[in-house]
Amino acid sequence: MFESLAAEAPDPLLALIAAYREDPRPDKIDLGVGVYRNANGDTPIMQAVKAAEQTLWQTQTTKAYLGAHGDIEYSAAVRDMVFSDTVDPALIAMMQTPGGTGGLRIAADLYKVTCPEGKIWVGLPTWPNHLPVFSAAGLSIRELPYFDVASQGLQLDAMIDGLREARAGDAVLLHGCCHNPTGADLSLEQWRRIGELLAERELLPIIDMAYYGLGQGLEEDLAGARLLMASMPELIVVSSCSKNFGIYRDRLGSIFAKTRSPEAAAKVHATLGSISRRSYSMPPDHGAAVVRSILHSPDLRRIWREELDAMRDDLNGLRQRLATEGSDLGLEAVGAQFGMFSTLRLSPEQVRTLREAHGVYMAGSGRINIAGLNEETVPLFLQALRAVH
Ligand code: LMR
Repeated sequence: MFESLAAEAPDPLLALIAAYREDPRPDKIDLGVGVYRNANGDTPIMQAVKAAEQTLWQTQTTKAYLGAHGDIEYSAAVRDMVFSDTVDPALIAMMQTPGGTGGLRIAADLYKVTCPEGKIWVGLPTWPNHLPVFSAAGLSIRELPYFDVASQGLQLDAMIDGLREARAGDAVLLHGCCHNPTGADLSLEQWRRIGELLAERELLPIIDMAYYGLGQGLEEDLAGARLLMASMPELIVVSSCSKNFGIYRDRLGSIFAKTRSPEAAAKVHATLGSISRRSYSMPPDHGAAVVRSILHSPDLRRIWREELDAMRDDLNGLRQRLATEGSDLGLEAVGAQFGMFSTLRLSPEQVRTLREAHGVYMAGSGRINIAGLNEETVPLFLQALRAVH
């Protein structure tokens, strides 16, 4: 029977990993999938993570099941870091999830069982996997403008106008910071405007927090979302530890739902547990145990923050270089964007030529992972861009 399956194309972002690996050219440049790379092109394990893993190896006495919600103390530590004092913890239901993507799927499942007829509104462009994850959960999706690649400008007025058609109870996906794929983040004033509209129209924000700490600073990256955490009666936040702790393959994330009452929080807690149980039973433990140890230890937490700050400074330094040295290519906007990604004004044809003729790998949309560059490859990349312009 399997021969009747439609032949599905591999995920385009993940396919780039394999294509890059197979390219024998020594001067190839990988600006594809969103992982941090240091000046040598490596994605090292953070020292805070290594130290926590060592202690874990020495002290962990059992690997017996933890339960459908995973490590509760890990989720509580992330909750305190992300929400700070914006919300009474008794109003927040939470669960450890398999990565941020797993958290998004759980968020979609939770929304679907809560509001079976609801729609989710998504600003474009967005991370290419958002739409498949939401539609796989059976959500109906409405698209909105968010960013215009040609002018490198936010389309906030158009987004807000589009949202006026949303019905009370509809959900709205927002990127907490380090917008993927454009790096174009909202200012606090813009968060406030969106928050007012969401409250007025009784819409449910679902905030994807995948890259916090890699934009303007840990606290700064959370500040906009915290305005909504404080002001909205209900919202969902999905957090990922893949990038800011560099534990991509350990698959660690969390979902948090702010509810109107401790009774509602208890109901969401139970629903999250049953979604987990019927999907994958319970999340993997290793990453959660590591991040819990880091967040609970003042020393490891300080080391982690220093390492995170260094990654962010590196990204922002590369952004400034691209903006200055690539001003003839219209790259100034890259210097005012944040996180790993920017989307350049490139046609699919130019993206293909960059890959085939120059060994520069990036997403078909023209999205680049800034962290794939270093001091030596910035000029080579700009040279390749000039060659295709
Ligand atoms: C990306 O956008 O490159 C990352 O979030 C990795 C992924 O899973 O797509």
